[in-house]
Amino acid sequence: MESFIYQNPTRLIFGQDQVNKQLVDQLKPFGKKVLLVYGGGSIKRNGLYNEVITLLSENGFVVSELDGVEPNPRLSSVQRGVEICNSNKIDVVLAVGGGSVIDCTKAIVAGAKYDGDVWDLVIKKETPKDALPFGTILTLAATGSEMNAGSVITNWETREKHGWGSPLVFPKFSILDPKNTLSVPKDHTIYGIVDMMTHVLEQYFHQQENTPLQERLCEAVLHTVIEAGPKLVNNLDDVEKRETILYSGTVALNGTLQMGTRGDWASHNIEHAVSAVYDIPHAGGLAILFPQWLRYHAKLGEKKLVQLATRVWGVDPDGKTNEQIAKEGIEKLEEFWRGLGAPSKLADYKIDDSQLEVIADKAMINGSFGNFNKLNKEDVLAILRASL
Ligand code: NZQ
Ligand code: ZN
Repeated sequence: MESFIYQNPTRLIFGQDQVNKQLVDQLKPFGKKVLLVYGGGSIKRNGLYNEVITLLSENGFVVSELDGVEPNPRLSSVQRGVEICNSNKIDVVLAVGGGSVIDCTKAIVAGAKYDGDVWDLVIKKETPKDALPFGTILTLAATGSEMNAGSVITNWETREKHGWGSPLVFPKFSILDPKNTLSVPKDHTIYGIVDMMTHVLEQYFHQQENTPLQERLCEAVLHTVIEAGPKLVNNLDDVEKRETILYSGTVALNGTLQMGTRGDWASHNIEHAVSAVYDIPHAGGLAILFPQWLRYHAKLGEKKLVQLATRVWGVDPDGKTNEQIAKEGIEKLEEFWRGLGAPSKLADYKIDDSQLEVIADKAMINGSFGNFNKLNKEDVLAILRASL
């Protein structure tokens, strides 16, 4: 494996009733003026908004609000948030929502301490030098954003969607109560499961040698999600399965699985380009693209694919070539996602071949990409065509 330094400064607070028990104490050290950031209203419908507002007002916090953060959060929302931080001299930001609300908050806290347009930070023209502190209350198991330093922002005017990150935007704390995810509807529960599995798989495909523990850790998360995911999708009120999936989503992308390795992440890059053009759910795009990325790497990735097929999907290798075992493993993954109810073709989102060049150009904006295998535009187009 490669040399590494691992430091994750986010305080993870996990379990039922932890908002009530912890929120006030966690926020207090950062000041009284709070910006509350949330999405399109799910937290108003499930009662979490009322719980948070009551706790904050009863404990002397002065609250400003940024609502309506979109799934695939937009630069315009980030800019509104920066404006509120500056005009109200906000001390600390509290994100209550899924990955989109948290990602938007990360850009707000960095943008509030940056003199120019916050988009400069997203496109990495400038590096953040400072950021306001922020905490999160996660309401959807998927991205891992609650315990990592990454963020993905869409500029809807230019149809660009980019990931960026900085150690300055690790949440100071994140409160995860599985009960707060009970109201997540079936489609987003499925997307969350696909997203966290893809995060694990992106990290599984790397070129570093001697990484047996990293691989076993990845397989453990996959086994856990494969066991709990379908049960949860069939019974959305199962709080124990909500708990398992919630914890899995965090472990899948909080750095635990990638120590000493460099995961591929090309499929994520292609998906960001697709959803920049069509605004589809992130993991809906991944469910379509990732199996095609795997097929495209059937030869180069054969050893890992065979390992994945036999250890995770239980493919019986007897009497089969490695090529057959690898192929069966990919089919099992597709079957699993289709069985949950995830899309499997771009056509499921009414996406045809008319914009493939545009999508490929967007994916290529910083040149060839992918750590397991570098993709050029022709590779990207081939994966997109196979996904139609
Ligand atoms: O906006 P509201 O009304 O809150 O509704 C949301 C939204 O419509 C709803 N929702 C969230 N919690 C709910 C709920 N509905 C009912 N009950 C609840 N408890 O779910 C919908 C989707 O929410 P969103 O936050 O968009 O989903 P997700 O967490 O999957 O985040 C997706 C975004 O994260 C980025 C994606 O690209 C996408 O923009 N990613 C961020 C990453 C990171 N920061 O590390 C990594 C990922 O790979 C990903 O790229
Ligand atoms: Zn993802």
